[in-house]
Amino acid sequence: MSKVTVVGAGNVGATVANVLAHENVANEIVLLDLMADMAKGKALDTWQQAPIDEYSTRIKGTGDYADTAGSDIAVITAGVPRKPGMSRDDLISTNAKIVSSVTKSLLAESPNAIIIVVSNPLDVMTYAAHEVSGHPSSKVIGMAGVLDTARYRAFLAEALDVSPRDIQAMLLGGHGDTMVPLPRYTTVSGIPVTELIDDAQLDAIVERTKKGGGELVQLMGTSAWYAPGAAAAQMVGSILRDEKRIFPCCIKLEGQYGLSDVYLGVPVKLGKNGVEEVIELKLDKEEMALLETSSGHVKEVMGAYDKMGLS
Ligand code: NAI
Ligand code: 2OP
Repeated sequence: MSKVTVVGAGNVGATVANVLAHENVANEIVLLDLMADMAKGKALDTWQQAPIDEYSTRIKGTGDYADTAGSDIAVITAGVPRKPGMSRDDLISTNAKIVSSVTKSLLAESPNAIIIVVSNPLDVMTYAAHEVSGHPSSKVIGMAGVLDTARYRAFLAEALDVSPRDIQAMLLGGHGDTMVPLPRYTTVSGIPVTELIDDAQLDAIVERTKKGGGELVQLMGTSAWYAPGAAAAQMVGSILRDEKRIFPCCIKLEGQYGLSDVYLGVPVKLGKNGVEEVIELKLDKEEMALLETSSGHVKEVMGAYDKMGLS
């Protein structure tokens, strides 16, 4: 039996729950929101989709944490999204309080649940959840890299006119404009991407990826949800199925890449225990400098969280 709770039944949370239900990997999904009726309605709608799309996952909406008891994994999407003109970091004062209190409420009912954080600013919200959880860092994981690499892969697929399925890529760093896509670790069915695209085009795609979230905020007046929801669901699937897939995820670095006490995206192996291995790439000087810049930026925002005195 496996049970997953998704907190926040807004755009992203409802999508996580819906995609995950389709995966047929969890026996039960609980969708929780302060707006309990909204959570109940979206859960009921997803349950009524089951006979059509042929999945068996039971899904229920609630506003009561008692219904989340015994969850194996909890995905936190609660919080406000950004509006045009805002950076992810502008959300910290509202979302830090929400993520801290949600984490406490979740763990009171499911003390061993692996936590996947989605709320922004992502790296610092992962820090917030980890601080209040008392969990080892292997069990508090931020979702950003799966989404950011998906954007990078989609842009490359379009430029090369190939299937996005054939593009493998890796990306490091914070979930913001300082993220570090890695062309040296990007291949198209095993072919180094640099053999298929010129430098100027690749640079433009890297830059578009870094600002990929903002591009969608400009278009829609709020942030994205289909790809973010699918990305979090893919992480849940790798854990529940013990697939040991390798994804870029945000975790606390404890000496890896020469960095400590900072929450950043790095390649990890996701299995039944959460993060089962952190993979250290052999970065060149330029890549390492970009990662250090990203780390410096995340540390600044972590400092703003520390001043809030929430943990
Ligand atoms: P949304 O506004 O559609 O949904 C947020 C939901 O959280 C609302 O239904 C609200 O009622 C609920 N909520 C607020 N406080 C709560 C609490 N204390 N307990 C339970 N529920 C609570 O927002 P959306 O678009 O779903 O985005 C959610 C978060 O995810 C935002 O912070 C956004 O920036 C972030 N995000 C992160 C991404 C990533 O790559 N890590 C990608 C996309 C969004
Ligand atoms: C995104 O990248 C806003 O973090 C959100 O779409």
